Amino acid sequence: MKHFTSILDIPSLENWLREAKALKQHPRKHIHLGEGKTLGLLFFNNSLRTRLSTQKAALNLGMDVIVMNFGKDGWALEFADGTVMNGNNAEHVREAARVVSQYCDILGIRAFAQLQDREFDESEPVLNGFLDHVSIPIVNLESALEHPLQSLADALTLEEHRTKARPKVVLSWTPHPKPLPHAVANSFIKIMQRMPVDLSIVHPEGYDLNKDIVGPTPVLFNQEEALEGADFVYAKSWSSYQHYGQVLTEDPKWMVSLEKLKGAKFMHCLPVRRNVVVADTVLESKQSLVIEQANNRTYAAQLVLKKLLEQ
Ligand code: CP
Repeated sequence: MKHFTSILDIPSLENWLREAKALKQHPRKHIHLGEGKTLGLLFFNNSLRTRLSTQKAALNLGMDVIVMNFGKDGWALEFADGTVMNGNNAEHVREAARVVSQYCDILGIRAFAQLQDREFDESEPVLNGFLDHVSIPIVNLESALEHPLQSLADALTLEEHRTKARPKVVLSWTPHPKPLPHAVANSFIKIMQRMPVDLSIVHPEGYDLNKDIVGPTPVLFNQEEALEGADFVYAKSWSSYQHYGQVLTEDPKWMVSLEKLKGAKFMHCLPVRRNVVVADTVLESKQSLVIEQANNRTYAAQLVLKKLLEQ
């Protein structure tokens, strides 16, 4: 594995989950592996969990970490080749990527979809801009299309809490006042499609995700029907994919409640808007796994960094 940018970079999910569980048991076992190595983290967008859990993961491996809020503090970057740079962008990614490669041994990048132009977002301009010019491995800390560290942590959490050989997992769209990207939903679908679970997706009309990612996974439009008999409900808000980046509805009837969950476990990547996406009572109940998902972000990141250090 040269870089970790997608769920598709995981060669054997079963082996990785086994290894992640072992790291969780003994987080400092490989404290010497990263000695003398530096992890650089560039954030073009806000973060709590990704930033702290990835730092914690690196510290558990003995690495040094340097972090930059690139979106706020960095020079505005140019990504197009051959441009006459007489506008606002002061630095080309060709230099930025090669410069960062001098300071770091592994580089994490967070750069969300801008949700203005689907084709532009799907070209992953920031992630691919750096991938084209770095000489070190890159870890995707959430790009326009994927959030693989989150989904690896989600898979680990689900694995730890499953009580059936083949649980029913439902990814449910939930309301949100702001247009949100598709990355978490995309990566969750991709990783669940590789696990022994029965996955289905439920959302209102107009919120279909990329058909190439959904593939054969069943899609429903009635939340009550979809949640019937669910063992895990993964709530996520996303903006329309067809009417790209638009909020088509904020219908509060789609909020997840204890009544809807019945006995199912509740999952969400966080941050979550209480009483919009999910009722307070769910988050305060034993059915909520959200804090454990956040905890598992450390071991997901640690496993990825360990794999990159070992190669
Ligand atoms: N789930 C997640 O990625 O959280 P942050 O945006 O806070 O990093």
